[in-house]
Amino acid sequence: MTTLTGKTVLLTGASRGLGVYIALALAKEQARVVCVSRSGAGLAQTCNAVEAAGGSAIAIPFDLCNISQLSGLAQQAQDIVGPIDVLINNAGIEINSDFANYSLAEIQSIFNTNLLAAMELTRFLLPNMMERGSGRIVNIASLAGKKGVAFNSVYSASKAGLIMWTDALRQELIGTGVQATVVCPGYVSETGMTVDPLVSAPKLAGISAPETVANAIVNAIKYNKAEVIVNQNPIMEGLTKLMLSFGQIAPTSVDTIYRWLGVVKFNQRRAENRAKQSYVAVGSKRP
Ligand SMILES: NC(=O)c1ccc[n+]([C@@H]2O[C@H](COP(=O)([O-])OP(=O)(O)OC[C@H]3O[C@@H](n4cnc5c(N)ncnc54)[C@H](OP(=O)(O)O)[C@@H]3O)[C@@H](O)[C@H]2O)c1
Repeated sequence: MTTLTGKTVLLTGASRGLGVYIALALAKEQARVVCVSRSGAGLAQTCNAVEAAGGSAIAIPFDLCNISQLSGLAQQAQDIVGPIDVLINNAGIEINSDFANYSLAEIQSIFNTNLLAAMELTRFLLPNMMERGSGRIVNIASLAGKKGVAFNSVYSASKAGLIMWTDALRQELIGTGVQATVVCPGYVSETGMTVDPLVSAPKLAGISAPETVANAIVNAIKYNKAEVIVNQNPIMEGLTKLMLSFGQIAPTSVDTIYRWLGVVKFNQRRAENRAKQSYVAVGSKRP
């Protein structure tokens, strides 16, 4: 798929954070965006921003944790806009905690939102893409799925699952005209789940502008990339890939690097703040 012009994209997690930047990057490519998430008000703001940028967007408010209702969402979207050309599974949540203190409900909500919803939406939209011999499944994972992150272990596990599922799916789809892509951003500035008024993300680990991540996602679709790591700039991305490769041979050495970079401390502080119930909801900047 070398162009997104005129393509219909279903984007989850479009009400705030990175999703808004992805929707605007898609508008620039003249794609039509179907925006999904729970907040109707957030979706309306995103659709207005897309239309102000000259694009076209519609909102479908939906709670992706209603896993058994996702066939209805897929049907509703196709009834309104016709076939979906690209599915971007971007919605995600994280809950920082030491592992023993997670509740089962928290673990289930992370897996439902980050992994099961992506699988189910794909399961319902894939047959039509395969029939037409064209389509893209794009999963927004995280560097936390490439190397485990302490005090965010359930999120890491869900993102590792997303990465490995995409890897398998991509191979399964060879020759069908449908491609699967996974994008793994590191920390993001200005907006999104790691912007925390109480603790700053560790700069040494690399922090990307949201526009950089959104553009990387659009390029991954246009240039049919299998897996994309986004971390601040090409040099940081090269170093990150080197570190992750080294981690395959010597995992505990990269544990030490993560401690040194401040990744462990950042997540531990967020877990402690949450445990003290002093956690404050993040105020995301909109572009
Ligand atoms: N920000 C980062 O530093 C970073 C780094 C690496 C990867 N990522 C990944 O990038 C993606 C976007 O993250 P973000 O930082 O933009 O997060 P965010 O600001 O917290 O936004 C999350 C989005 O997901 C939606 N969402 C959450 N639960 C949902 C549910 N049950 N049903 C429907 N929609 C739901 C939210 O909308 P509603 O609340 O309106 O439902 C919101 O639009 C996630 O997959 C995240 O894991 C982020």
